[in-house]
Amino acid sequence: MMRALVPVTVAVSFIVQAAIIVFGAEKAAAPQQPQVETLPDAPGKQLVEQVCATCHGVDLLVPSSRTATQWRDTMGAMKTAGAKASDEDWKTIVDYIMGNLAFLNLNKATVEDVRLVFGVPEKVAQAVVAARDKQGGFKTVDDLKQVPDLDQKRVDAIKARLTF
Ligand code: HEC
Repeated sequence: MMRALVPVTVAVSFIVQAAIIVFGAEKAAAPQQPQVETLPDAPGKQLVEQVCATCHGVDLLVPSSRTATQWRDTMGAMKTAGAKASDEDWKTIVDYIMGNLAFLNLNKATVEDVRLVFGVPEKVAQAVVAARDKQGGFKTVDDLKQVPDLDQKRVDAIKARLTF
C-alpha cells in the first residue's frame, strides 16, 4: 500500500499542474471584451451625473460592457435602492444609458432594445428585427447596414457595442 502512494501523489500533482497550464493558456487566449471607458458626451449626461452620483461616483457606471438586459436589471435595482428622478428625467437617463453604454446581441435583441440602443424610432427598430429574422440572423455590421432607413453613421458610432 505505502509503495503505491508515491506514484499516485506524483500523478495527482501532474494533473493539477497540467490543469493550471491549460487553464492559464485559455485565459490568455480569451478575446478582449470591448468596454465603454468613460461617460460619452450626449444629451442626458448631465442628468445622469446629477441623479446617479447621489450615492456613488459615476465611475461605477464605466468601464462597462453590461448588456441592455443587464442595464435594465441594474436600473431597477437603483430604483429599489432609492434613486429618484421624475418620470421624464428617468426616461432621459434610460435613453442615455441604453443609447451610449449598453451592449446588444443583435441576433437576440427585442424591438424595444434595438430602439433604445440605436436611438431610432420604433418603425426603424421593427425594420431591423424584421430584416434580421428574414435572413436568419445578421453576421456582420454590413448585413445590418442593408436595412433601409437606418442611419449608417449611427451604426458606425455604436458598432463596438453590437455583438452577433
Ligand atoms: C439611492 C442611492 C443610489 C442611487 C441614487 C444610484 N445608485 Fe447605483 N448603486 C447603489 C448601491 C447601494 C450600489 C451597490 C449595491 C449593488 O451593487 O447593488 C449601486 C451600484 C451600482 C452599479 C454597480 C452594480 C453592479 O452590479 O455592478 C451601477 C452600474 C449603478 N449603481 C448604476 C447607477 C445608475 C445608472 C444610477 C442613476 C440612475 C444609480 N446607480 C443611482 C445606490 C444608488
